[in-house]
Amino acid sequence: MKLDRTQVLTKDGSSTLKIEAFKETYHSHHGARTESEFVYIERGLRFWQEANPHLSCSVLEMGYGTGLISYLSYLYHAPSSINYTAIEAYPLSQNEIKLLNYSQCITSEKPHTFDEFSKLSWEQQHKLNANFNFTKREVLFEQFKTKQLFDLIFYDAFGAHAQPELWEEQWMKKCFDLLNPKGVWVSYCAKGSVRRALQAVGFEVERLPGPPGKREMLRAVKT
Ligand SMILES: C[S@@+](CC[C@H](N)C(=O)[O-])C[C@H]1O[C@@H](n2cnc3c(N)ncnc32)[C@H](O)[C@@H]1O
Repeated sequence: MKLDRTQVLTKDGSSTLKIEAFKETYHSHHGARTESEFVYIERGLRFWQEANPHLSCSVLEMGYGTGLISYLSYLYHAPSSINYTAIEAYPLSQNEIKLLNYSQCITSEKPHTFDEFSKLSWEQQHKLNANFNFTKREVLFEQFKTKQLFDLIFYDAFGAHAQPELWEEQWMKKCFDLLNPKGVWVSYCAKGSVRRALQAVGFEVERLPGPPGKREMLRAVKT
């Protein structure tokens, strides 16, 4: 099925995409950039790097989507190196990515603009600077196979109302198995059934205050 995606402006001025057929957006209406920074950069990347300041960090993002979270991770001033892998089952076209305003509203002294970052080829590792290696892969999470283990998983599937199957215990177990000991799983999701599924497969789970518009979010550590 060909899905129509339209641009939506969120409350912090950054845009996101909406899949009309599912009434589902790629980010929160309360701020695409704000949510991404709050949940994944601050509660994920910064949290992990503060606990492990001298270690390089391998990140897996489940659901590359627009590339916003990947790009914000590239812009993050990391004290040590980051090896970042993003997976996506249904990549957006360049025309859809052009609908987004991130090149205008996100500026940085780092060399790659959002536009350039979005055009990086799939299935290849890109060494963007001494501290950031980036790979995006077109694959279903359910079929994703790797020998690599990760320190951090950004679990950014669509909500459980739209994609309930991706929040079930078997996929939380897959996340657990993909992480190194002390690895961290983080998501905007705060659903009780997801929290219980994470606990059931062995994670220690925290409920944290959520980004604007959301009371809570989840972070889980592989103990
Ligand atoms: C909430 S959006 C992710 C937003 C993204 N992180 C960003 O910054 O734009 C969810 C993404 O998961 C992708 N997706 C859905 N099912 C998937 C699956 N089974 N495996 C991998 N990706 C999937 C969707 O196509 C969509 O891009």
